[in-house]
Amino acid sequence: MVIESLRRIIQIVFGIEIFEFPGLNRMRNFFYRLVFSIGKHAIIGRNVRLFRVHGLSSGSINIGEHVLLANDVLIDYSGKVIIGNHVWLSENVHIHTHTHKLTKDRVLKRPEDIEVSTIEIGDKAWLGDGAIILPGIEYIGENAIVGAGSVVTKNIPSNTVWAGNPAREIKKI
Ligand SMILES: CC(C)(COP(=O)(O)OP(=O)(O)OC[C@H]1O[C@@H](n2cnc3c(N)ncnc32)[C@H](O)[C@@H]1OP(=O)(O)O)[C@@H](O)C(=O)NCCC(=O)NCCS
Repeated sequence: MVIESLRRIIQIVFGIEIFEFPGLNRMRNFFYRLVFSIGKHAIIGRNVRLFRVHGLSSGSINIGEHVLLANDVLIDYSGKVIIGNHVWLSENVHIHTHTHKLTKDRVLKRPEDIEVSTIEIGDKAWLGDGAIILPGIEYIGENAIVGAGSVVTKNIPSNTVWAGNPAREIKKI
């Protein structure tokens, strides 16, 4: 719980705009990397939020090297999140790894009514601005691209481009 509070404080303090300035952004980078497993040479934007929900403590997040987490990226690691090297998450990308069972009682938010999932994002994948990755998605393959504003409801194979809501394959690379 101490680490969780520390993570939250660091995100509130170092997530603000002032840490965009050259030099100061190194400080943001340092503190995010102090409390999260994030590889070297990350670019971390404003208001990047990495969080777990409903008091779940089992989830985890591991992020590779040379990763872009652009402004307002939001990653729910109530489940497990593994992000490879050279991955780009453009502004406002949202990744979810928990959902609630569709029962009349889901409003109770009991731990047994919450379902968590594991997602792995391969090296060099690029998720465009505002893409939403729903819980239950297991992988986004290496070198895959998700178009801006897409809602991803299926696993995405390597070397493919997906776009739309729901996202569909629009081309191979
Ligand atoms: C996904 C993307 C990379 C595809 O680019 P592209 O290969 O040049 O694609 P095209 O323009 O040839 O489009 C192919 C088809 O997909 C559709 N399409 C492309 N991007 C789309 C998107 N984001 N949502 C829905 N449909 C999309 C096009 O309308 C077109 O449809 P059509 O064949 O029916 O005319 C690009 O559109 C995109 O979304 N880039 C992300 C931009 C971004 O987030 N920038 C932030 C930088 S950090």
